[in-house]
Amino acid sequence: MKNRRPLIAGNWKMYKTPNESVETARQLDQQVRSVADVDIMIAPTFTALTAVWEVVQNGPVTLGAQNLYWEAEGAYTGEISAPMLKSVGCEYCIIGHSERRQYFGETDQTVNKKIQAAIKTKLKPVFCVGETDKEREAEQTFSVLDKQVKKGLEGLVLDQLNTLVIAYEPVWAIGTGKTATDDQAQEVHQFIRSLVEKNFGNALSDSIRILYGGSVKPDNIAALMKMPDIDGALVGGASLDAESFSQIVKFK
Ligand code: 13P
Repeated sequence: MKNRRPLIAGNWKMYKTPNESVETARQLDQQVRSVADVDIMIAPTFTALTAVWEVVQNGPVTLGAQNLYWEAEGAYTGEISAPMLKSVGCEYCIIGHSERRQYFGETDQTVNKKIQAAIKTKLKPVFCVGETDKEREAEQTFSVLDKQVKKGLEGLVLDQLNTLVIAYEPVWAIGTGKTATDDQAQEVHQFIRSLVEKNFGNALSDSIRILYGGSVKPDNIAALMKMPDIDGALVGGASLDAESFSQIVKFK
């Protein structure tokens, strides 16, 4: 029996104008009003955060950002800081998504700085890890995750980590329709939990939420959520539509 509260999070990536975001958020808010036992988060683009906050602030849907920069302010053209995100209603921030590592040069070191900045500002980090298909084929999945988790959380101590969420997103399953099987996902989630235990002890490894991401849909969420170490999902494509995302939220 899991005693961790599930978190179902939607990563809207670079989709939707503010108007379109508000429309989807409004529909979602209505569809999940009665949900009380699942935490719900959506992460629209930066330009839609303020408008979406207006729509969701009194309901069960919380707001997340997709990225941040680790300095609080300064001459960093094009960047957004943790305090700025906090000030527009964000409760969570996705950090180190594989698309950011792949296309925008993020490394374990920059991910670590971003996690530290989020924690300092009391934004809950959703720390993304995951192996590529090449790494999986070469049987490097566990060593890759070991390095990502260790370096991503370097320098952090136990009492800073109680709001941390980890998202396991195998790169080969993102946007491909190729979900990890329930057993494949469970095996890695259990491994990540054991890494947390090894580095920070079992109080944290028992309480930390580990989400699965990669082609999560209304028809595969229930089986994933039955796995003992899967505590929720980080959903891309299927979160863009209020109807399909609310079905995922109501997975039971
Ligand atoms: P898809 O659900 O579209 O595969 O995306 C997963 C993801 O990257 C969520 O962050």
